[in-house]
Amino acid sequence: MDGTSQPVELLVAIDRDGPHTLGAQIEGQLRAAIRTGALKPGAEIPSTRDLARQLGISRRVAVEAYAQLAAEGYLAMRQGARPRVSETAANAPATPDAPAPPRPPRFDFRPSFPDVSAFPRAAWLKSVKTAMNTLTDAELGYGNPNGDEILRIQLADYLGRVRGVVADAERVIITNGYGQAQGLVCQALRARGATRIAVEDPSNTEQLEVALRAGLEPVRVPVDELGLQVSELPEDVAAVIVTPAHQHPTGVVLAPERRTHLLAWLRDHEAIAIEDDYDAEYRYDRAAVGALQGLEPERVVYAGSASKTLAPALRLGWLVVPQALVEPIRREKYLADQGTSRIEQHAFADFIARGELDRHLRRMRARYRTRRDTLVEALANELPQARIKGIAAGLHVTVELPDGHDERAIKEAALAERIRFNVLGDYDAAGPPTLLLGYGALPESAIAAGVRELARLIH
Ligand SMILES: Cc1ncc(COP(=O)(O)O)c(C=O)c1O
Repeated sequence: MDGTSQPVELLVAIDRDGPHTLGAQIEGQLRAAIRTGALKPGAEIPSTRDLARQLGISRRVAVEAYAQLAAEGYLAMRQGARPRVSETAANAPATPDAPAPPRPPRFDFRPSFPDVSAFPRAAWLKSVKTAMNTLTDAELGYGNPNGDEILRIQLADYLGRVRGVVADAERVIITNGYGQAQGLVCQALRARGATRIAVEDPSNTEQLEVALRAGLEPVRVPVDELGLQVSELPEDVAAVIVTPAHQHPTGVVLAPERRTHLLAWLRDHEAIAIEDDYDAEYRYDRAAVGALQGLEPERVVYAGSASKTLAPALRLGWLVVPQALVEPIRREKYLADQGTSRIEQHAFADFIARGELDRHLRRMRARYRTRRDTLVEALANELPQARIKGIAAGLHVTVELPDGHDERAIKEAALAERIRFNVLGDYDAAGPPTLLLGYGALPESAIAAGVRELARLIH
């Protein structure tokens, strides 16, 4: 007995015609793997019986090779247990001291974080189980790169109902989050000859990088209290990325006259908009404005994501695209990864069909609304000189401080106290000193306590 019943695989290649004996080859390769750290101290290796079977050699050769390595101190052999690399084996060059991981924030006010502690685990698990019970063998192969029809139908229905998106399943494309979705659209536009794309200023800096990597030159167009300044759009951009329902990060909504102006501009310039509808499910004071896409489906690419509604870990996003872009984007998605996980897609389709997404959103909307109210009230009490901008929506508030405050210095001082948030400068933008405080992931008591500490620092 020198092993357990579970086989362990090990990469050893033997050359029967080579100059060295089989035993010497096994010894040499194991010794090298242990020295370089490919095999770590304590790692299990196959029993001599398993190794002999894997390599098609006599067991005696394996026994002798292991005995030699044990004698040299590389292997630890114990009767009845699987052989292991010795804990004291001199291996792996010492790795340079890795910096200690930063301690987690005490108050994490970073915008864009939903409350993942409320993720509906049981309901999701049920949907995954249903997916595993109903997926056919054929559906465990490669599928349509644009996504499985079962989910595209559910999303087309959900988006039409909740966001006024004009969608039929043929135009829905499932992606690994918004980040991938934007890249796919940019690549498809570049392939059709586009060279420049407008992005909101301020906006997430990743948007610019994604455009650049797709070969498009991003051009920043300013946002004011009414949203994107459409009159500032350069004549030669082929597309413009907007967050009309809740501008990220300023929190303003694209005003009705600007919406009309933008749609007219797109028609006049034969351009398209990419509508990033990242958190429109969360509007607290009234019903959210419908998606821009619903007014001009052939000129607007609609983009949504499960990152705010459920959890970023799902990496699930979707596009609803003009007819002319369905095939070009399918090609890009095929080349990128041949499609998003089909198991996850089927689970999500079941989750929507059973009404779980609606139920979860109803619960979370109430929770976030209370958190937002708590934050706004705490700010009014502790920082009365601050001005809260933007609409009652999403997962963060935009807090403008009077001139003379240094947002960067405030951020650094707060970080030293393990209070984390973003400032306008994080979006490469200039403007009055502005803090972006997310409230999604913090319970009410922590919001009040965190604002109190933050106010003390600012004072
Ligand atoms: C403006 C904006 N759009 C989209 C997203 C969602 O991105 P993803 O779906 O890649 O997680 C985020 C997430 O933070 C965001 O801030």
